[in-house]
Amino acid sequence: MKRAPYQNTTTPSSSWACPRPQDTARVARLLTDTVRDNVWLLRGPLGSGKTTFVRGLLRGLGYRGVVTSPTFVLTRTYLLPPNKRWGVVLHIDAYRLRDRHEGAALDIASAAMNPRCLVVIEWPERLQEHPWSSSHTLRFRHIKNGRQISLRTK
Ligand SMILES: Nc1ncnc2c1ncn2[C@@H]1O[C@H](COP(=O)(O)OP(=O)(O)OP(=O)(O)O)[C@@H](O)[C@H]1O
Ligand SMILES: [Mg+2]
Repeated sequence: MKRAPYQNTTTPSSSWACPRPQDTARVARLLTDTVRDNVWLLRGPLGSGKTTFVRGLLRGLGYRGVVTSPTFVLTRTYLLPPNKRWGVVLHIDAYRLRDRHEGAALDIASAAMNPRCLVVIEWPERLQEHPWSSSHTLRFRHIKNGRQISLRTK
């Protein structure tokens, strides 16, 4: 995991080059310690490492079970072992959302209001409404040697 030399803090924007999946996981663990908001938007094309990032995030928070993509079920909820900050992670993949009603049924707004719930959303652009007040955006890109992750704070 290599941070771009022109950045030396994690806010308001930072980026990391991640040659291997484990580097992506390491960035996720780093951010769980530093990011304050509880809604994280994960943007980037298919296969750019969003789910890999969430898996790393959950491992870092002590979750030991299987972490699979919610591509078909849309959401997965993970209860964490006793943890200083988060009690639960809600992982959403909106890629297959069919319409705005289905999006509303996910009730992201309630989860976002719970400060003990970390909400991570893949394909947030497929949601019609963004009912949360503040969020962090992580952008994933394919680069020549792996992936690049950039953090932008709204
Ligand atoms: N540096 C890297 N970081 C993350 N994943 C990587 C990296 N290098 C290779 N990979 C591979 O790329 C794939 C990324 O898949 P992943 O499911 O995380 O992507 P995604 O962004 O969630 O895709 P989707 O939009 O389809 O849900 C995995 O097979 C992973 O092993
Ligand atoms: Mg995914």
